Amino acid sequence: MEKQKFYFIETFGCQMNVHDSEKIAGMLRDLGYTETSEKETSDIIVFNTCCIRETAELKIMAKIGDLKALKRKNKDLIIVICGCMTQQQGMPQLLKKRFPYINLVIGTHNLDMLEDYIRNYNGSKFKSIVWEHEEGITENSKIYRSSENHAFVNIMYGCNNFCTYCIVPYVRGRERSRKVEDIVREVESLAKENKYSLITLLGQNVNSYGLDFKDNKTNFVYLLDKLCKIEGDFKISFMSSHPKDFSSELIDFIARHEKMSRAIHLPVQSGSDEILRKMNRRYTSGHYKKLVDEMYNKIENLSLTTDIIVGFPGETEEDFMETCNLLKYCKFSSIFGFVYSKRNGTPAASFDNQVPYKIKKDRICRLFDLQHEIQRSELARYIGQKFDCIIEKDEKGRFVAKTFNNKTVKLKGKDYILGDKRIVEVKEINKNELIGEIA
Ligand code: SAH
Ligand code: SF4
Ligand code: F3S
Repeated sequence: MEKQKFYFIETFGCQMNVHDSEKIAGMLRDLGYTETSEKETSDIIVFNTCCIRETAELKIMAKIGDLKALKRKNKDLIIVICGCMTQQQGMPQLLKKRFPYINLVIGTHNLDMLEDYIRNYNGSKFKSIVWEHEEGITENSKIYRSSENHAFVNIMYGCNNFCTYCIVPYVRGRERSRKVEDIVREVESLAKENKYSLITLLGQNVNSYGLDFKDNKTNFVYLLDKLCKIEGDFKISFMSSHPKDFSSELIDFIARHEKMSRAIHLPVQSGSDEILRKMNRRYTSGHYKKLVDEMYNKIENLSLTTDIIVGFPGETEEDFMETCNLLKYCKFSSIFGFVYSKRNGTPAASFDNQVPYKIKKDRICRLFDLQHEIQRSELARYIGQKFDCIIEKDEKGRFVAKTFNNKTVKLKGKDYILGDKRIVEVKEINKNELIGEIA
């Protein structure tokens, strides 16, 4: 009997990457490999990388460095580096120089070539297959889903927005949408499995879905309409949307359709119009606030989250205060806050008035403190309320209840059934968590 072979995948970055890793797992399982959570016992190690901020990149570089010892112990170990980092100018060469024991560097546009590489592998040394440009869309990927109740579906790839701080358009290429029929087919088959309570549609800016078809018909709402008609007990959410293209039509659609999740992620980045202009976001804080008003007015139980960057070049204390004011106005359920990080090749990297790290650090701490305060007073309103919930597990494997608008309620005790629908009463808050029990 042939010896069992193992793979280990570590994923960095966003949900797009999490989903790409599910495709990598699909390919490797098809080749007879089994998943392991230990690098030491694996035959293939894959790092699916992210380069959105320097911190991400440094962490990954250090981890690739650590693999040297493993490779020395096991000469047959195959080391694969893929994901956004590999698409940066000069990166494959740099990786080769620093870590010659890597076997394969493979880009985001041609990830599906991994399967053939592994199938034909015969002990070859460093190889790099990184296409500089995107070419169409690969359908029929084998996907090994990592969550029992939450599925990701790509609806488009790439980004055309070129926010001046962001590396994504350079490493993920231009926007291209998957065909409506292909997406519908995938969601139908997920619905048939009858275990996914949430399906998240993925794209860097889902609001521009379908515009590349130029048929005056296909757009994001058109797609959602088709998906909401699919029978099954699941909710649909999406990631991410750009405020400049979030239409009233979309808000109305969400408000009217039970299947649409009430949790919406709408990255604002800054509350200062001057900074938003320099970021090339193409909206003002006034536009954003109006959008948020309309959403709260029309969508019952809306849970809004956002991304914020502090310390963008030229950001003054006044600009930062405007971001704080925006947080107070929008009452986000939670925020993802980042310290601006210079990315080579992006316009903002060469802007004047880069903000010193000390000031950036101070602002991010103040931002989080403010948000905690806002969340605490918002959460206090939930005490005593009852919600229809689905029982899920959190990242530590503990049972939690998810409300319809995606709030997490920590549960006391252990006797729950995953996927069960129960009414949960919120009893108290602890720090920024709701704590409750089955009503
Ligand atoms: N396409 C998504 C965002 C992908 S990146 C969108 O537009 O919503 C996720 C988040 O990382 C961004 O929203 C932004 O807040 C942050 N980010 C991107 N580039 C960054 C940089 N150079 N420094 C710090 N944060 C950054
Ligand atoms: Fe980056 Fe902006 Fe595109 Fe989002 S919309 S991926 S922040 S360039
Ligand atoms: Fe990172 Fe690439 Fe996502 S740079 S945030 S993994 S699209």
